[in-house]
Amino acid sequence: MLKKPHDRARQFASDNYAGICPEAMDAIIAANVDHASAYGNDAWTSKAADLIRETFETDCEVFFVFNGTAANSLVLASLCQSYHSILCHELAHIETDECGAPEFFSNGTKLLQVRGENGKIDLKALEQTATKRTDVHFPKPRVVSLTQATEVGTVYGVDEVRAISEIAKVYGLHVHMDGARFANAVASLSVAPSEITWKAGVEALCFGGTKNGTHVGDAVVFFNRELAYEFEYRCKQAGQLCSKMRFISAPWVGLLQDGAWLRYAGHANEMARLLESSLQNIPGVRKLYPSQANSVFVELPPPVIDGLRAAGWQFYTFIGTGGCRLMCAWDTQPEDVRQLADDIRLLSTRFDLP
Ligand SMILES: Cc1ncc(COP(=O)(O)O)c(C=O)c1O
Repeated sequence: MLKKPHDRARQFASDNYAGICPEAMDAIIAANVDHASAYGNDAWTSKAADLIRETFETDCEVFFVFNGTAANSLVLASLCQSYHSILCHELAHIETDECGAPEFFSNGTKLLQVRGENGKIDLKALEQTATKRTDVHFPKPRVVSLTQATEVGTVYGVDEVRAISEIAKVYGLHVHMDGARFANAVASLSVAPSEITWKAGVEALCFGGTKNGTHVGDAVVFFNRELAYEFEYRCKQAGQLCSKMRFISAPWVGLLQDGAWLRYAGHANEMARLLESSLQNIPGVRKLYPSQANSVFVELPPPVIDGLRAAGWQFYTFIGTGGCRLMCAWDTQPEDVRQLADDIRLLSTRFDLP
């Protein structure tokens, strides 16, 4: 029997649907004592930045902004002049879901789409795009931006990031990583964060906090410190310098100081693995991409999608006809996964699908 819509405590639409994890919340509460210097000149912000440096085992420059769109856009604007171009996968969030913010904040830098299987930039296509034109009439390639984990729930391995960086080096491109789900990628790969970033050639990382359990705020990490030149002015001008910064930085302390960020990311990934295996062998269900982080992409028959929606399930269907993104979060429970999988099975059987 399908449950009633209002019974759903957790959904599979987005990891942004989840609340704040206890460690982040405890840190926010602990930070809410007395007065503290504003605009990031406080002890919580210093501690959070130090913990990020410790996590990456390097003396990087760290900033905190309100969200991922701002992080990506301001970093890319720092790396480019308006006549430059940014090479990214055709499904990249900066291309498809940021309302032109990277172009806006960089005064017109153009995004050039690169194709590739499974949401990952294809090396040949990258090279072709980087070398397509060298004349003054074409926006000069300046940055390659990759998303880790990708928009379709796959993960670049260390060698894959290195290979992109090597091409970038040959053609004088900076390397930017959109790490809205960086924690899920690290948990999936079981590598040191340094291995998949600066040691593999990444110069700037937008490190996502909200999907990992904070209330708001992403970290901007410049491994190449020169690229951080006057970044604080960019943040301020864009309305991204939080006056009560301690409440953006404190949850990072909560997440990072005892490894909660990786535990939660690993848990979300595990829930996606459970969902993936629970959907195996259900008639009409077809997996669309390898599931390597915290999401599962499947094609479902339209009547099943309608049935799930009627039963109160929320999820995105932005990938062609029947393509569904099922996203797990830090607080997704095995029971949630079982309920969703049971409903998919029940609906598939009810409609007697092939
Ligand atoms: C790959 C990716 N990058 C960046 C973002 C950041 O977006 P926001 O500005 O909503 O925090 C998201 C959020 O969904 C994302 O999925």
